Amino acid sequence: MKQQSCYILAIESSCDDTAAAILRNDEVLSNIIATQDIHKAYGGVVPELASRAHQQNIIPVVDQALKKAGVSKKQLSAIAYTRGPGLLGSLLVGTSFAKSLSMGLEIPLIDVNHMQAHLLTHFIKDENPNPEFPFLGVTVSGGHTQIVIVKDHFDFELIGTTLDDAIGEAFDKCGKILGLGYPAGPIIDKKAQSGNPKAFKFPIPKVPGLNVSYSGFKTNVINFIHKNMQKDEGFIEANLNDLCASIQYTLVEIIYEKILKAVEIHQVSRIVLGGGVSANSGLRSKLTKTAITNGWEVFLPTFEFTTDNAAMIGIVGYLKYLKKDFGSLKESASARLKF
Ligand code: KG4
Ligand code: ZN
Repeated sequence: MKQQSCYILAIESSCDDTAAAILRNDEVLSNIIATQDIHKAYGGVVPELASRAHQQNIIPVVDQALKKAGVSKKQLSAIAYTRGPGLLGSLLVGTSFAKSLSMGLEIPLIDVNHMQAHLLTHFIKDENPNPEFPFLGVTVSGGHTQIVIVKDHFDFELIGTTLDDAIGEAFDKCGKILGLGYPAGPIIDKKAQSGNPKAFKFPIPKVPGLNVSYSGFKTNVINFIHKNMQKDEGFIEANLNDLCASIQYTLVEIIYEKILKAVEIHQVSRIVLGGGVSANSGLRSKLTKTAITNGWEVFLPTFEFTTDNAAMIGIVGYLKYLKKDFGSLKESASARLKF
């Protein structure tokens, strides 16, 4: 018997991207993102401005997603939204919009954990294969750096996390010192490709277990740059590509060492990457090479689904829809939502 198609409207508003997507089952029909450029002037996300921009963007973004997919509101089977973690004011915009629309259309509401979504994005129907369980999930983003054992779609066990800054945050803060724009991660990545990763050596912090730390590294970079700028004002300009390559090398090495350790301890060599920093060419190539030498299976997300997007919220919505795991109007946005 042919299964009936279900149409999910997904909404993501956890940080500074207002996004909406339409999925037909596990297939993405549209994936619209309004990036908030206003934060560029401040070199980082300003929470109050983010929620205001979400309020302005959410209706046009949802309209565009429906239009591009060629789907009407009446065809929708459910609405999935990001409940957390993220900035509370930003989450509230998506949460209240999703709740009112689900009430108006009298269709189920599905709450989604943003961090689970970064990993479950691999179950979207595209040219990349779906990973089997169990796998070692590595989420590297602007707000988080986590290593998790994933035994099933919704069975997540956190085994390592950052004790301070997230890896994406470290990329962005180092970029700020170098005078690069925001977010600096992709800019550093690009410049690093023409630089020498061994030009400058920064120490790898010693952190027990599978946890990582990025704030000490950031302080080392700040001190190193200040010291050299005092001697030579043109230091950054003259060494920009090498600085980017060396910074990227160290940031990647910090998480890479812990992935190696996690594989050894937990005897799981299927690695699934997610989050904005999973777009990084240094991290991607390092894991791809290790997959060949160590016999690992490595799953890298499709570029479109690395940074924040609503398609990843939609796939979780679909997986929960199949289980009839619906949320309720009582559930409120949660800035520190756990797995
Ligand atoms: O997942 P994401 O869009 O938002 C959060 O959930 O935090 O991640 C955003 C982060 C930013 O810090 C950005 O600089 C970083 O991902 N990023 C990158 C690259 N593309 C995005 N970092 C390094 N290399 C990249 N190519
Ligand atoms: Zn994210």
